[in-house]
Amino acid sequence: MLNKKRILIVHYSQSGQLTEVVHGFSQPLVDHPDFEVTFEAIKPIQEFPFPWPFLRFFDTFPECVYLDPPAIQESKLTGDENFDLIIVAYQVWFLSPSLPITAFLQSAVASQLLKGKPVITLIACRNMWLMAQEEMKIMLLNLDAKLIGNVALVDAAGNAGSFLATPLWVLSGNKGPRLGGIIPKAGVAPEVIAASSRFGERIIDRMSSDKCLDSSVLINLGAVDVNEKLISSEKAAKRSFRIWGMLLRSLGPRGSLLRKPVLFLYILFLVSFIVIVIPLSMLFKLLISPLTRNKIAKQKEYYGGPSGP
Ligand SMILES: Cc1cc2nc3c(=O)[nH]c(=O)nc-3n(C[C@H](O)[C@H](O)[C@H](O)COP(=O)(O)O)c2cc1C
Repeated sequence: MLNKKRILIVHYSQSGQLTEVVHGFSQPLVDHPDFEVTFEAIKPIQEFPFPWPFLRFFDTFPECVYLDPPAIQESKLTGDENFDLIIVAYQVWFLSPSLPITAFLQSAVASQLLKGKPVITLIACRNMWLMAQEEMKIMLLNLDAKLIGNVALVDAAGNAGSFLATPLWVLSGNKGPRLGGIIPKAGVAPEVIAASSRFGERIIDRMSSDKCLDSSVLINLGAVDVNEKLISSEKAAKRSFRIWGMLLRSLGPRGSLLRKPVLFLYILFLVSFIVIVIPLSMLFKLLISPLTRNKIAKQKEYYGGPSGP
């Protein structure tokens, strides 16, 4: 092949987990002589801490939810480069794409690079990514980019297990397990990360032949699994993030003293919401599930797109 296929992978990671996922995914592409892969690691000017101090962690949610971009270091790319495919790898922060990736997508370079280009999103998070991907879809649409695939890798511990395991990991820097395994190990399973090379292989197959690179590119590879039980919880949590986030942002920027008392109130609200409202709403949804089966099947199909189960 005379002209190599050029692929850009944009990524950011605090613990290194998403970097491992990016490497697992892209290894076949990197090894292939007909492909040229460019990695663009996003670097905030003021790094976000890892592990996160408790209050700083919660104090970040208003900016995440309102997609307020932090300053990031200048890209080594000019924007004039021409990529055949762009992969945007991101983790979820408070049901939104993480702030460094949000900042990149709002940069002038991104608007040049992504315009009219096919994009695959690659997520590694606890397990709540549906609302973040909705934000991502809007940002890509605004950039005139075409979302053709999505891969979402989630924590091995499952919904209940990761509920404490993941926050404890990002607040302590230690994945666990804890309490003799009562709180399982946090993070995406290593074998799931290793198996993500199948996505890179599929991309090679599609781009090397004259098959077209469209939204069928990653189907039938188990790219995403939509947990239907989380759809309504994510929607309700996002609504509450927006209300509290608006209030907190009106009090000052991240870190401002005025935000602290309201932040404490918010944390109390969040704990009661998680302990009381979410289980009750899940129970209610279970009781009425025979009536909502079709609606939920449609929602599952929608959120699973474009790569399907
Ligand atoms: C501030 C913050 C908020 C997070 N919010 C979510 C979330 O809403 N949903 C989710 O599934 N995971 C959430 N996570 C977990 C991350 O998506 C991710 O799994 C973890 O931070 C490891 O990513 P890394 O590659 O940057 O180390 C959050 C993590 C952080 C630090």
